[in-house]
Amino acid sequence: MRHDRPNKPRPELPFLIGEAESELWSDEAWDAALAQPVEISQPGARKKAGTHGGPQAQDKTHPSAPNPFAPPSPVAEALSRSASESGEARRKPISGRFGKPAFDAGEFRLVARLATGGMSEVWLADALQGELAGQTVVLKRLLPALRADEGSVERFRAEALLGAALRHENLAVTFGLRERGLELFLVQELLGGETLGLLAAAARKRNERLSLAALLHAADGLLAALAFLHGDGGSQAPVRVIHGDVNPDNVVCTFDGGVKLIDFGLAQTLRPDGTVASPDGALRGTPAYMSPEQVKSRPLSARSDLFSAGVVLWELFANRPLFAAESEFETLRRVLNLTAPPLRAVWPHSPTGLERLLVRALAKGPAQRFSTASELRESLRQVARQQAAASGPDALAAEVIRLAPKGVKAER
Ligand SMILES: Nc1ncnc2c1ncn2[C@@H]1O[C@H](COP(=O)(O)OP(=O)(O)O)[C@@H](O)[C@H]1O
Ligand SMILES: [Mg+2]
Repeated sequence: MRHDRPNKPRPELPFLIGEAESELWSDEAWDAALAQPVEISQPGARKKAGTHGGPQAQDKTHPSAPNPFAPPSPVAEALSRSASESGEARRKPISGRFGKPAFDAGEFRLVARLATGGMSEVWLADALQGELAGQTVVLKRLLPALRADEGSVERFRAEALLGAALRHENLAVTFGLRERGLELFLVQELLGGETLGLLAAAARKRNERLSLAALLHAADGLLAALAFLHGDGGSQAPVRVIHGDVNPDNVVCTFDGGVKLIDFGLAQTLRPDGTVASPDGALRGTPAYMSPEQVKSRPLSARSDLFSAGVVLWELFANRPLFAAESEFETLRRVLNLTAPPLRAVWPHSPTGLERLLVRALAKGPAQRFSTASELRESLRQVARQQAAASGPDALAAEVIRLAPKGVKAER
């Protein structure tokens, strides 16, 4: 049983807390980068391709800064061709193709801001010095407005530390944290691809759905990431954590068919008894994907993530939102009270066995759910086998290439 498994000793973390090289230490530097008229559009990209619609109900609750819209996707179109490119070509900095660099100093050159959330903003940048030199990376920066909030600063540091400690093929690589004075940002691998949320929205917009094979592969990757994080049997994770914010915008599908769970902003370390510390009563998460116990500010176990994953799966297969409503209050009410409609009612072709699996994943009471991500994953694999449904990276890659916009636009 996983709860009996002793915590493994923490290995040396491949973690850099640097400060010397970077000159991104003044707000003016970041503001200046933002002020630059950088239009990121790729040669050959269609005119409208870079505008990211995707208005999913992804409001992430945060006491000081709610995020009412899904962030635009940061897909670098330069990477869209990468599936067939060599690894070396893929690592080449892409800012040159963007024209004038937005900001050029020290360790990183900011290229463009890609997304702003309630807690942080995500930037595309070229690493100019050090081990990462030559790579295009993502910088995730704590919003200046939150610097005075100790809890936010602590959570941001914890996010970076956890990210760097956890290496798995279904997670993004976090290279390190940069901190000086009040400035705080983490450095992460740029994932060339598109979020599951945006892919699903793009398909729906066309009155289509993602292929079953692609969905099964995406679901499998998400559950593999959770099994690793939760410390399911066989997991090599140095710490066991609950992700706390499993939602379609936190799953990036890459152009080569990889599946990466991102955003440890709300992750919490599990205690040996498999729960996390008592909640402080604040509502944190993305309402439409929160578990009932999260909504009620009850202590969480890994099964909370399994419920959120269940919502993601239900939505992917049903090809429509499950709990999302006009108001946050109504969304939360539905999380607590609404039973998911039978899948067959919204998707007549749904594979046998999937219905039962989703009912169990979405049980309001944690005890009625699957006990582990691995168990849920195995059940899903069984459904796939019964269907003789092909699934794999190629099927997902094909969908990313088909549905992902051909360009990326800086946030304005
Ligand atoms: N490493 C990355 N590579 C590519 N895109 C990323 C990466 N990290 C984040 N993003 C994009 O930025 C968005 C916001 O990042 P996230 O870490 O989820 O921050 P938040 O805490 O604001 O939700 C994601 O939904 C995704 O579109
Ligand atoms: Mg997120």
